[in-house]
Amino acid sequence: MNQALVGVIGGSGLYQMDALEDVQEAVINTPFGMPSDPLVIGRVHGVPVAFVARHGRGHRLLPSEVAYCANIYALKQLGVRYVLSVSAVGSLKEDFRPLDMVLPDQFIDLTRGRESTFFGRGAIAHFSMAQPVCAATADILARAVRRVLEDEPTKTSRSLALHTSGTYVCIEGPQFSTQAESHYYRSMGAGVIGMTNMPEAKLAREAQMAYSTLAMVTDFDCWHPVEAHVTASLAMANLTQNASRAQHVLAEAIRLLGAEQPISLAHSAMQNSLLTHPNAMS
Ligand code: ADE
Repeated sequence: MNQALVGVIGGSGLYQMDALEDVQEAVINTPFGMPSDPLVIGRVHGVPVAFVARHGRGHRLLPSEVAYCANIYALKQLGVRYVLSVSAVGSLKEDFRPLDMVLPDQFIDLTRGRESTFFGRGAIAHFSMAQPVCAATADILARAVRRVLEDEPTKTSRSLALHTSGTYVCIEGPQFSTQAESHYYRSMGAGVIGMTNMPEAKLAREAQMAYSTLAMVTDFDCWHPVEAHVTASLAMANLTQNASRAQHVLAEAIRLLGAEQPISLAHSAMQNSLLTHPNAMS
């Protein structure tokens, strides 16, 4: 079913895509249950796109309750080759300021007990996650962000920055971190903190889809000696601004993906994975 080339997973604050045209809803059941929400299929600049709201429209699901397997499975069923994940994050670095955008190139998975593989039940596979993000897709996101920032009239008191690398530490949540944890994550070298990109990135890899995250900074978590510590209302205030910028970035990134359709190592990830069948080892 090649109904979509690009899949967009909208995080907190991003529950629909404004640029989608010829919109249809698809209720897709998967062997892993129902996705977080019906998928919304349409076109952006003529490119077929499938959108899913990670927490459901109206934000009904906690990070631990998101249907990670079903979301990725449903996107794969629609033929998606590139997944753009839009995610609100806290900053763990002085120069990653609220409203900045980060394209993480590494993840640290500290989630607990989430279903995190399509394999098992006799089908065994070990995929490489050494490079968890598709560099070509991230490059397209970077170009899209630069374009949007160039076109945007400077409304804020400082210019927003794009950071093209950084490590995203994924915690289980739903509580924000303790100060001791926040300092610990900084000492691990993490640059941003969130609750949802794992196991999403792992599942996208197993599904051989190129995955890249547009991480939008809402707060400084709770390590900063001067800046306000994260609260839900502080994060919400910045989420709204981030979400409207994300709409423009996505539209441009989708246009570029449609035009260029870069080859991604993720598309052939299975070739480099260790795959066995119950009888293969006997
Ligand atoms: N999402 C946005 N800000 C966050 C933070 N400080 N910690 C975890 N997830 C977040």
